[in-house]
Amino acid sequence: MRLPVTAGDFREQARSRLPRFLFDYLDGGATDEHSLRANETAWRDVTLRQRVLVDVDQVDTRTTLGGQACAMPVVLAPVGLAGMMAQRGEVQAVRAADAAEIPFTLSTVGICSLSEVAAAANAPFWFQLYMIRDRGRIEDLLQKAWQLGCRTLVFTVDLPIPGMRHRDTRNGLGATGLRAAALRAWQVSSHPNWLWNVALRGGPLTFGNLSEAVPGGRNLDAFKAWVDSQFDPTVTWLDIAWLRQRWQGTLILKGILEAEDARHAVQVGADGIVVSNHGGRQLDGVAATASKLPAVVAAVGGQTEIMVDGGIRSGVDVFRALALGANGVMIGRPWAWALAAAGETGISQLLRSWQQELRLAMMLTGVTEIAGIGCAQLDQLSGFPAGEYE
Ligand code: FNR
Repeated sequence: MRLPVTAGDFREQARSRLPRFLFDYLDGGATDEHSLRANETAWRDVTLRQRVLVDVDQVDTRTTLGGQACAMPVVLAPVGLAGMMAQRGEVQAVRAADAAEIPFTLSTVGICSLSEVAAAANAPFWFQLYMIRDRGRIEDLLQKAWQLGCRTLVFTVDLPIPGMRHRDTRNGLGATGLRAAALRAWQVSSHPNWLWNVALRGGPLTFGNLSEAVPGGRNLDAFKAWVDSQFDPTVTWLDIAWLRQRWQGTLILKGILEAEDARHAVQVGADGIVVSNHGGRQLDGVAATASKLPAVVAAVGGQTEIMVDGGIRSGVDVFRALALGANGVMIGRPWAWALAAAGETGISQLLRSWQQELRLAMMLTGVTEIAGIGCAQLDQLSGFPAGEYE
């Protein structure tokens, strides 16, 4: 046995702890998973300039994101079904995020409800919303989130329809019928710890925020069928304007890849954007987010807050994203792997290690504060030429 250190270590532990359909749901991407892989490898192509003999005794990783003070420029991204990765998973995650002084984002399709997470949180957390057909339901959720102290809304715009995730289909996830149920039951039977701790002692395993919307929905399949029928492909920028009028807090649009869309986001009054391809889970074939970020920064940097996600796997990757012009990053799979592997403690361990890596990257590039990270720290050879992104 070895102690987990990196996101990859937690991933391997998650693989052995979760029934296969759940690990694949978390780990997988759309179609052939090219964009998923590209997200990770693109960060490694961003090389940095080492600087020496600079006084780096006092390094500060603190910043502000979405109007909230953070100990480092990292936010836990919304991950649907996170509450199936460990017992009441979103509650454990918000506690770890609070301890690390960074924001946690609750997914619309989380297992734990807004109220359950609010009861566990001791700092404001963020809420993620998808546009669903029933606008009355959206208004109710906005009101509830506000009443419970959420002040930052992350509105996801890259999911007019769920992507084709072949691993899920192979595992019978979301499928009805005896064969799919038998397959999943077989996978669960070889993970008695998960069965006992999460399925039996960690229920109810339904979508906490949507329980009123799916009357009689007792199992996850009923909820998933409802949610899949509710994603609204008619949504346009007009709906974002509608939303802007109804949300007085910080509004962040997640799922922007093109500079043109980033400009629209600014025009419609978004306070921030997340450059994201949904972790390679939607359109396989789109470019890695690291390679799309510079053009977005050139288009709207300084006018709106820019975060990026997809394939960020270390504190050094966080530094790379900032060097390319982002104000902060979101991370999805890494925190959910750590949650599956070791619960709240796992997430805390991972975040501590990333903060230390970020601090180290700052020291070895001669930067002492987050605002000081920029294109000057990019190596000329990286293919991301310094000076282009200001
Ligand atoms: C997601 N993501 C996501 N995004 C969102 O806006 N709402 C959601 O409910 C979910 N659900 C979800 C489930 C799972 C299992 C994954 C892996 C991802 C996307 C997520 O917020 C984020 O954009 C990506 O995960 C970022 O990529 P990495 O960090 O996972 O590589």
